Amino acid sequence: MCGIVGYVGHRQALEVVLGGLRRLEYRGYDSAGVALLDGEGGLAVERAAGALSNLEKRLAEVDGGKFAGRSGMGHTRWATHGAPTDRNAHPHRDTSGQVAVVHNGIIENFAVLRAELEAAGIEMASDTDTETTAHLVAAAYADGPTAGDLTASVCAVARRLEGAFTLVVTHAAEPGKIVAARRSSPLVVGVGEGEHFLASDVAAFIEHTRDAVELGQDQVVTITRDAYRVTDFFAQDVEAKPFSVDWDLSAAEKGGHDYFMLKEIEEQPEALENTLRGHFASGGIVLDELRLTEQDLRDIDKVFVVACGTAYHSGLLAKYAIEHWCRVPVEVELASEFRYRDPVLGRDTLVVAISQSGETADTLEAVRHARVQRARVLAICNTNGAQIPRESDAVLYTHAGPEIGVAATKTFLAQVAANYLVGLALAQARGTKYSDEVAREFAELSAMPEAVRRTLSTVDQVRQLGRELADAKAVLFLGRHVGYPVALEGALKLKELAYMHAEGFAAGELKHGPIALIEEGLPVVVVMPSPKGRALLHSKLVSNIREIQARGARTIVIAEEGDDEVRPFADELITIPAVPTLLQPLVSTVPLQVLAAEIARARGYDVDKPRNLAKSVTVE
Ligand code: G6P
Repeated sequence: MCGIVGYVGHRQALEVVLGGLRRLEYRGYDSAGVALLDGEGGLAVERAAGALSNLEKRLAEVDGGKFAGRSGMGHTRWATHGAPTDRNAHPHRDTSGQVAVVHNGIIENFAVLRAELEAAGIEMASDTDTETTAHLVAAAYADGPTAGDLTASVCAVARRLEGAFTLVVTHAAEPGKIVAARRSSPLVVGVGEGEHFLASDVAAFIEHTRDAVELGQDQVVTITRDAYRVTDFFAQDVEAKPFSVDWDLSAAEKGGHDYFMLKEIEEQPEALENTLRGHFASGGIVLDELRLTEQDLRDIDKVFVVACGTAYHSGLLAKYAIEHWCRVPVEVELASEFRYRDPVLGRDTLVVAISQSGETADTLEAVRHARVQRARVLAICNTNGAQIPRESDAVLYTHAGPEIGVAATKTFLAQVAANYLVGLALAQARGTKYSDEVAREFAELSAMPEAVRRTLSTVDQVRQLGRELADAKAVLFLGRHVGYPVALEGALKLKELAYMHAEGFAAGELKHGPIALIEEGLPVVVVMPSPKGRALLHSKLVSNIREIQARGARTIVIAEEGDDEVRPFADELITIPAVPTLLQPLVSTVPLQVLAAEIARARGYDVDKPRNLAKSVTVE
């Protein structure tokens, strides 16, 4: 949600900023903008609604000399306050045009601030919450105790703001300096030789440096060409946490594919391997950061899993594994519903928060609510040092690598694997599984990357099917047991990417309503359980398929290799390797991802950047 880049150094800032924005475009593409300082008191701003390419076109038309400075910043927007228009695109300026601001997040008290500014005679040039901060910084810099000090001015303004924000500010009077403040919204500093970077995500600057600094909550950073300084909101120096980025630029490039998402689908075996690596040691499961004792884990009497979107579907699968292995009740809840319902939480409740980005506002607020109620929180996250893991008692990182496509693919598989690791860690701590059983389950998990590789080698048939289905009005997805969350995920992918009406159902529910939707030619995707592992469920699903086929549906069946019983009822049969029941979602999801991507491509849509969506949503 909104991408931010800042740069001060020896290069042409415009190139660095646009390069960074290209890598952050997945965070929002409603509009884009840049502000460049020319070093002589000039501040040049250009903005354009729509994709970053619109801004680039506009920049190519305007005078290049104006944008030749060596410090500047840029923004790609995912709109919250105000329509996605030129007028609301960032950067925003104060009335004098001296101060420019870009912002990610929501300033909750902006109405009060806006009214105060308007009462002082300031006319707003946009409908955004962001613009208020440009006027406030200008006023703080012009007068009073912070006059002439940009860092102090930004601190003073940050103290007045409520909500979540990353705010990056520049002032024409201090051309070699950029100041940024953050609360509950991401910002990292890149440290180079004679240059410094600011960005929402390291992807924006890894081309230039791997040395980075993580900013804490309520901190302000000031970068110049030669130094960076981190303070709290009261301008007191604080210690910053340097780290080194351990993935390189090629990991974030498309690797020969038209779309990142297609590359990410193919990277799934590796994502699984990396997520599992190192988590079985000395005969047991180990988590990454565990600030809980074994006793704490033994005392847990209830588990809540909270997450959003695709992460929520991975959470639904966690319930099957954790209840089965640990004999402890598990509830799975959409993070956006959780805290508003007053769930019963206490010291012996474990809340598992799953989030690829680690910054989804709904999930973060659920974590905070759980902690206030004294529950223990374990985060599953793909982003090192993000807010959710930071505020949790324990962390398990999925090592899926950067995921640029907005629709989650490899991080979903990695989350499922991580959920199972958590289940096994709990089972081991609570003694509901012997260590040899834990070792066996881990070995089965470790065989999954190979099974996913085999699945990927057979997806050409799915691609062909995707092209055939491009004109369908709707697609239904059915599953039972762990196949049910897979059906939900298949439907979500299709909605997100192909803008097609798609619904996932528990197949047993069909007769209670959804069967009325079946009409001649309607494609219905059915995820079959194993005929051996789940014989009873299997025969029930075969009956369900017969029911819909009798009513004219076109049946697309995902079934284990060698499942001959279902073959006569499949208009299209897609086979997947036979694996243990709980692990089947790791293979059965793959053809559904490919199907959604292919239908979207056939319909001419941008698979990486579906309309109206953002990769990480930092507003509730
Ligand atoms: C957004 C994305 C989804 C994602 C969800 C949760 O809505 O578009 O693909 O599943 O956020 O994101 P998280 O980073 O918390 O896993």
